[in-house]
Amino acid sequence: MIRVMTIEDYDEVFTLWNSIQGFAIRSIDDSREGVARFLRRNPTTSCVYIKDGKIVGAILCGHDGRQGSFYHVCVDKDYRRHHIGHKMVDFCIEALKKEYISKVSLNAFVINEAGNAFWTKMGWKIREDLNEYDYIINMNNRNVVIGDKEIGKERNAS
Ligand SMILES: CC(C)(COP(=O)(O)OP(=O)(O)OC[C@H]1O[C@@H](n2cnc3c(N)ncnc32)[C@H](O)[C@@H]1OP(=O)(O)O)[C@@H](O)C(=O)NCCC(=O)NCCS
Repeated sequence: MIRVMTIEDYDEVFTLWNSIQGFAIRSIDDSREGVARFLRRNPTTSCVYIKDGKIVGAILCGHDGRQGSFYHVCVDKDYRRHHIGHKMVDFCIEALKKEYISKVSLNAFVINEAGNAFWTKMGWKIREDLNEYDYIINMNNRNVVIGDKEIGKERNAS
């Protein structure tokens, strides 16, 4: 069953994120307050997938009035390859369509073979014609990579 994610799902979703090897979790953006702020701005577009009485997949999805963004697309490793990821992506795209959004994008680490294979299969295109620029506004928004050899060591790079 898929439904819209609410802040009441936070603890379960946060536990799921922390089980995903290679995920980069940010101390401010992914805190309860950060996610609550995101969901207040985007109350209808993020989702959770529930199976066996628990949350086994989630997507944080929002838009800025022009373009949609996906963050932390994930499925519990015991539930992968059952098209849960595919169904969640479709759910979020339908929600964005209702908000008159015409395009959605996301970042995938280059070394994430499974993730990149998934997006290619979903029909998403890699942009080869542009460079992505970041500017860090708040250095306190620390980044921790789950399952990194240096897990626990906070990093600002993504
Ligand atoms: C990427 C992820 C969300 C896919 O979820 P999923 O529910 O297993 O994906 P689906 O079952 O919907 O896969 C749809 C199709 O994508 C492709 N695909 C999915 N996982 C794949 C993998 N590991 N290797 C190759 N192709 C893959 C397949 O073609 C699959 O269809 P098929 O099983 O009928 O062949 C999941 O593997 C995951 O949570 N990975 C860790 C987090 C992550 O990397 N997220 C993406 C960040 S950008």
